[in-house]
Amino acid sequence: VEVMLQPTPALTWVSTGGILDLYIFLGPNPQSVIRQYLQVIGYPTMPPYWSLGFHLCRWGYTTTTTTRKVVERMHNASFPLDVQWNDLDYADKRRIFTYDPWRFGDLPQMVKEFHERGMKYILILDPGISSTSPSGTYPPFDHGLKRDVFIKNATGNILIGKVWPGPTAFPDFTYPETRKWWEDCIRDFHSKVPVDGLWIDMNEPASFVQGSVEGCPDNDLENPPYTPRVVGGQLNSGTICMSAQQNLSTHYNLHNMYGLAEAYATNRAFTNVLGKRPFVLSRSSYPSIGRYSAVWTGDVRSDWEQLRFSIPAVLQFSLFGVPLVGADICGFGGNTTEELCVRWMQLGAFYPFMRNHNDKPNAPQEPYVFGQKAQAAMRSALNLRYSLLPFLYTLFHHAHTSADTVARPLFMEFPTDPNCQTIDRQFLWGSSLLISPVLEEGAVDHLFFFSLGQYLLLPAPLDTINVHVKEGHIIPQQEPALTTTASRRNPFFLTVALSAGGWAWGDLFWDDGESLDTYEMGNYCYVTFIAGESQIVSDPLRLNGALDGLILGGLQVFGVPSSPHYVLANGDFSVCFFTQVLTVTSLALPMSEVFTVQWAL
Ligand code: NOJ
Repeated sequence: VEVMLQPTPALTWVSTGGILDLYIFLGPNPQSVIRQYLQVIGYPTMPPYWSLGFHLCRWGYTTTTTTRKVVERMHNASFPLDVQWNDLDYADKRRIFTYDPWRFGDLPQMVKEFHERGMKYILILDPGISSTSPSGTYPPFDHGLKRDVFIKNATGNILIGKVWPGPTAFPDFTYPETRKWWEDCIRDFHSKVPVDGLWIDMNEPASFVQGSVEGCPDNDLENPPYTPRVVGGQLNSGTICMSAQQNLSTHYNLHNMYGLAEAYATNRAFTNVLGKRPFVLSRSSYPSIGRYSAVWTGDVRSDWEQLRFSIPAVLQFSLFGVPLVGADICGFGGNTTEELCVRWMQLGAFYPFMRNHNDKPNAPQEPYVFGQKAQAAMRSALNLRYSLLPFLYTLFHHAHTSADTVARPLFMEFPTDPNCQTIDRQFLWGSSLLISPVLEEGAVDHLFFFSLGQYLLLPAPLDTINVHVKEGHIIPQQEPALTTTASRRNPFFLTVALSAGGWAWGDLFWDDGESLDTYEMGNYCYVTFIAGESQIVSDPLRLNGALDGLILGGLQVFGVPSSPHYVLANGDFSVCFFTQVLTVTSLALPMSEVFTVQWAL
């Protein structure tokens, strides 16, 4: 189906046939439209906690030595890093489920070392299975042949396209036996290289020849009476033949779902192998993919325009039920500049999925390659993100259980304010945090809308990204660290923004960060925080031990009118400062018990 937006306003739907089911979600407000939509396509999956940390990748980490050095340099420069990645470089002759014996011979050992540092490791899988290795030397293809897992062409032979390793066959993920074969491949590989996540790329499916190495037959499926304006001009351009045969139907009927089917197969297989929450990142997407996978926005260029476009791209996926989404930070194609990369790391610190990724020929863009000023700005953006992870994780919990959005366009929160309808340069996390990134080269001021309809000009020198907390909200935070393994043990603190009426509310979802179905099985903690004019109290509504040993180390209260005479935490006098904001430090209140912090005005 092709859908065109008309100025009237109206939508024009063009379909070449088949059955079209139309659902109309009546809302009445934007958030309830999304909730109704997700009731049809499914609520997003709960990600592992570590996947909200910083991810670093590039095409061109050509050896384990290089990859180790990247991690070392990140660590030495005190940049938080949870997940190190490898692109195709790791694979022997670019064939998935193998690793290069010379350049990546000690890959298992490297992954073990990363794990010992409290880090995770992810590598790439393309669906194209190399079909030209000598028989008996490449089990994924040999076993795949035996188990009949590959897509056939119109005459019933295996369809061969061309991807990175050369000629390739394409698994038919709609066939149950294929999903078992895929799981066996993942299990076998994982027993050697204990990866923590899988990156499924090229899964449109992309191919470098049109249709197949033999072309495609000339029939109605390849050349239907109407062809939408696709790249390359034909439905089989850059992919496999439409008349190719899959278990469920022709590829014509299944093409758009190839990535979804692969994401489903990968999620299920990996869950069975790990026995924990899997992390999958997919390039291709389709409604429902948020149940199985994160998505990134593909090959973006290193320029200011693409930096700006990444905001609506991320917000759209939020609306599609894929909250775990981000663009390649500092850009994938072309060389970045220091200033662009700083601004992109600042914005990227507020992508729900935060990964810096770069193409092979380009200048490096890891945070440590830049000057000290740029590094300091990036470090502070990373630390700000890490401090906010308990809040971000709680937002994911609400997305998973209530179809809330994580990164949220302003119009969802303020549906009656017409100014908000077109804002695509700012966005929210949940309903309480407003992010106003700098998106222009050379800018040190940031222009933005206030929800009452005024423009305000805020200073935003290179080391600054403006973030605002909405009145009436309490944000749960934690002292940052170089990994989430470490930060999850640090003291919590609260940022409290009292409303004009003198109250605020917030909540925290907490579990072990990785077990399956913790919410569904009741294996989690849930704490709410309520602030009034002169106190804040916690209310642990559910406890399972996950918060045991963790403390509240301090808090900041905005909106206290004058310096309090003293502050009592659970009845004891506490250290506090007042400079328009009430800051209470050096607390050690157990998070798993009710606490009260009072201030006497
Ligand atoms: C295309 C992907 O979009 C990109 O992120 C990746 O680096 C290359 N394929 C190589 O695997």
